[in-house]
Amino acid sequence: MTLSDSYGNTISTNTADARDHYDHGVQLFLGAEFGAVQAFEASVSADPAFAVGYAGLARALMMEARLPEAKTAIARAQSLASASTDRERTHVSAFAALLDGDPPLARTIVKDHVRDHPRDAMAAQLCTNVFGLIGFSGKVGREAELLAYTETLLPHYQNDWWMMSMHALSLCETGQTDASLSLMERSLAINPRNANGAHFRAHALYETGEIAAGRHYLRGWMEQYDKRAVLHGHLSWHVALWALHDGDEQAMWDAVDDSVRPGSSDSMPINVLTDTAAILYRAEIAGLKVAPERWKDLSGYAARFFPETGQSFADMHAALCHAMAGDGERLAYIVDTAKGFAGDLVRPVAKGWGDIARGNWSGALEHLSQVMATTERLGGSRAQRDLIELAYVNVLMKLGLEKEARRTLKLRRPVLCDFTPVCGMQ
Ligand SMILES: [Fe+2]
Repeated sequence: MTLSDSYGNTISTNTADARDHYDHGVQLFLGAEFGAVQAFEASVSADPAFAVGYAGLARALMMEARLPEAKTAIARAQSLASASTDRERTHVSAFAALLDGDPPLARTIVKDHVRDHPRDAMAAQLCTNVFGLIGFSGKVGREAELLAYTETLLPHYQNDWWMMSMHALSLCETGQTDASLSLMERSLAINPRNANGAHFRAHALYETGEIAAGRHYLRGWMEQYDKRAVLHGHLSWHVALWALHDGDEQAMWDAVDDSVRPGSSDSMPINVLTDTAAILYRAEIAGLKVAPERWKDLSGYAARFFPETGQSFADMHAALCHAMAGDGERLAYIVDTAKGFAGDLVRPVAKGWGDIARGNWSGALEHLSQVMATTERLGGSRAQRDLIELAYVNVLMKLGLEKEARRTLKLRRPVLCDFTPVCGMQ
């Protein structure tokens, strides 16, 4: 008996239970819901020879930052893959490349693979989303590349909530917010619990300056979102950010302390670090007082989880923490060793943070201006990269260049002009 998964891909298991648990795991994973690890574990328990089940398990474990277990799972998938189909073997090799620390190879494998197997959703997802293999490619034009990628795949996924949400995300990040919102509404109507959908619906609302509507929407949606799920911390960051923009300081700190900062969130370290650093500094830019202990704690967290450079988006935020915590040694280490997909940009940004922390605003302007033309290479969403946009505008304000600050914001991020979260510009 030949079985297929819910996307119609032939799978090498004869065990219906293994297939059913696998499909359940895929649905949970693609919707960023809690429970994918358990579902994939049940799948391989029902059929211990199911290679793709182990690949799914490896991917789900990665998203829970359980890397040693993920590596064990992918090794098991590789050892079983010879008895699988060509599609399954390539599928496994993409995850293996990623877990082996070779994102460029994984990206090449996936982009080739989906030409022949566009409905291999678990493989395809590796290149989707802002934290995916295209999002973190470090290339100029990666937002347009992501849009082209999901646009090509979309016709193969008629009425599929996941692919609709991924394409809506690509539309949002290329400035097509109306089209994004409308497609996301259709996706969420099919699966209202898709956290990737709720996440980028929130982004589209952010991009259109809908602060009150955004706060209301996300607060309601998150009431039923499992705190252990992968996006809980990051969605809480969005809640905190909107509270900041709304002038609701207490709600901002409540969200940060309940679900964003280290120790309060089960999210991946890259989210904990980047989200906490971003909200702390954006609060400072807005003129709020941030306790020095918060920066010290976060600097320690960054040093523990990102001791070496290479993940440029994380490195850029780690450098901010070290600078604000006054740890010149750790900051210098990032400046000296920055590497990875945008290491050449991390260096001037890190120097800029150092200047900002010392109040050397002209030095900060000199360093930050080197990266403003190509910030997309650093990775992350537009909302996340507003950290740099607002830091740059704040530097101009500190230099007494208010007109230039306002013009810069209007040119680069007009959505932030009406409720500018920069001290002195409100
Ligand atoms: Fe986000």
